[in-house]
Amino acid sequence: MLITNATLPDGRTGIDLLVQQQHITAVGPQLGAPEGTEVIDARGWLLAPPFVDAHFHMDATLSHGLPRVNASGTLLEGIALWGELKPLLTQEALVERALRYCDWAVAQGLLAIRSHVDVCDDRLLAVEALLQVKRQVAPYLQLQLVAFPQDGLLRSPDAMAKLQRALDMGVDVVGGIPHFERTMAEGAESVRLLCELAAERGLPVDMHCDESDDPLSRHIETLAFQAQRLGLHGRCTGSHLTSMHSMDNYYVSKLLPLMAEAGVNAVANPLINITLQGRHDHYPKRRGMTRVPELMAAGITVGFGHDCVLDPWYAFGSGDMLEVAAMGLHVAQMTSLQGQRQCFDAVTVNNARILGLQGYGLEPGCRADFVLLQARSPAEALRLRAARLLVVGQGRVLARAPERCVALDLPGRPATVDFTLP
Ligand code: FE2
Repeated sequence: MLITNATLPDGRTGIDLLVQQQHITAVGPQLGAPEGTEVIDARGWLLAPPFVDAHFHMDATLSHGLPRVNASGTLLEGIALWGELKPLLTQEALVERALRYCDWAVAQGLLAIRSHVDVCDDRLLAVEALLQVKRQVAPYLQLQLVAFPQDGLLRSPDAMAKLQRALDMGVDVVGGIPHFERTMAEGAESVRLLCELAAERGLPVDMHCDESDDPLSRHIETLAFQAQRLGLHGRCTGSHLTSMHSMDNYYVSKLLPLMAEAGVNAVANPLINITLQGRHDHYPKRRGMTRVPELMAAGITVGFGHDCVLDPWYAFGSGDMLEVAAMGLHVAQMTSLQGQRQCFDAVTVNNARILGLQGYGLEPGCRADFVLLQARSPAEALRLRAARLLVVGQGRVLARAPERCVALDLPGRPATVDFTLP
């Protein structure tokens, strides 16, 4: 396959990209191609590496309204609601909903997802279901699973044993939820136990960490400490970190260098953070998302996750990582040119680094995974939630869509309009 006349996220234009045997073999202007090569004209549109989601819950997705909706809109009612739904789940329905979401993801150019899977269930039904889905979608979507003790590692009976069983079955990453344990001390203890388990097994860690408006929820400090102590540099991720929004500024000025030193990654979930945090506030209401630009400035890898789509916590979403990035940009006020580019990176290269994806990017030698966006730049893609014209995975076209264009009937004006700028 030869893609011609593409614009790349770094601003290069008129670029061709040659794909051979599932890999990118050449990138540059006016490349030739062997006879019989399929040629696709990118018409100057933006060719980007695929979107990556660093934080999702594929066991809960598309279950909105089962068995009822979240009336208060809070995180805690969402957890209670998920607890009501769990005994009613069937493997068949879990697999069907997850596969449908993966279809949406591919159509949106989202080709790698790290999903948490709840292990606080004697049957480990969701674990079995998502392992099956992972195998099934492997030819076109990289699904990474995190063993997530939703009801608390120490708070929920036998959660450690279930979590270990899930890892034995093939789940890839150690999860946690320290702010949901009964006390701060138990939260810290859970972080220690889980990091030691990850070190023993040679696995990464990705915890729901400090998803709270409580400025004294400081489990990220413990996670950074344990990552440093156990040599887990680059392998630990703190997801959410919303309490950091409310923390004392002096304390944060000490915390950020500790996180950078320990190589702990951070994941914000803009759509979910802006809707779930600040629910106990009157006015002014806190935004609650973690300190994204400050974390980035400290040299920490920061990704954005979708977290939820149509589930007990969030009644919206469609697997569109441009929507996630655009919300992150607004909430964090990252409106500068640099900030816009950083938000695009937060749903592409940064998430790829957090997931540890091999061969990600648009360089020769990388996997032939990419998405053609109806935009001229990453900033325009964010502004328009650009149409995904072409999605390619390992050199195969996975999805195609027509250019978005509206017929106009105005005297003296053009016959069609799109929303891009020349
Ligand atoms: Fe989550």
